[in-house]
Amino acid sequence: MFSKPIKNIVILTGAGISEESGIRTFRGKSGLWEEEKVEEIATFEAFEKNPKKVFDFYNLRKKNLLDNNISPNQAHLALARFEKNFPGEVNLITQNVDNLHERAGSLKIIHMHGELLKIRCRKSDKVFEFTKPLDENILCPCCGQIGNLRPHIVWFGEMPLELPKIFDLLKKCHLFLAIGTSGTVYPAASFVQEARRYGAYAININSEESENEIYFHRVIKGKASFETEKLVGEILGQGFRNDF
Ligand code: OAD
Repeated sequence: MFSKPIKNIVILTGAGISEESGIRTFRGKSGLWEEEKVEEIATFEAFEKNPKKVFDFYNLRKKNLLDNNISPNQAHLALARFEKNFPGEVNLITQNVDNLHERAGSLKIIHMHGELLKIRCRKSDKVFEFTKPLDENILCPCCGQIGNLRPHIVWFGEMPLELPKIFDLLKKCHLFLAIGTSGTVYPAASFVQEARRYGAYAININSEESENEIYFHRVIKGKASFETEKLVGEILGQGFRNDF
């Protein structure tokens, strides 16, 4: 029986939490990487070789997010409610580049893989909000030059954002919850082991199997919207069981 009181909670979300809002996941039957080769889109080498292809890919994702009535679902809303009502601390780490957690009302969010509605100057590393389509001819707001702007997205081979803060949160966390992530992309896939090294209890929610699910104490198979709301209700209602 795990008996530590739960004060600090860290939640890791992946593409699966936004699937019911109408955003495509990366892997699985209708996943984006089934259609596009990941190495032709999500690497700096791909961007240097064919910037138009990479801009087009992310512009399309941006258009979908902005134009298609995409809105937070019950899972995003439940996590925002959780952060507001839990007497301890709830920190959200997301691999997602959409803005659905913010729109649901979550405040403590780390976008470890970047954000779709932001761009970055390659020279200064300054980040800007940018909701229009991005292309090679757009002047950089900081250096006034063309050719320096890129999507504010972490590509394969690049360092995810805010890792020192993330590892600090994992060290202090008592409950680690992963939702809608395949557990295939590192370092995010190893956060569960890191949190457990410091004694956290770990729960995974996924409609299918996650590759790293053996590392979790409790595995919940089901849709993120229903299962997240249920689990948040369980924890807030003090009925949470963490025996294993
Ligand atoms: P994936 O597309 O790899 O995995 C999505 C997971 O969500 C799968 O395991 C599905 O079974 C699950 N899923 C789908 N719909 C669900 C639902 N309604 N409820 C619950 N689970 C559901 O997405 P990530 O794990 O987030 O990185 O991918 C990690 C990273 O790989 C992404 O951030 C992205 C990608 O390449 C970069 O682009 C750098």
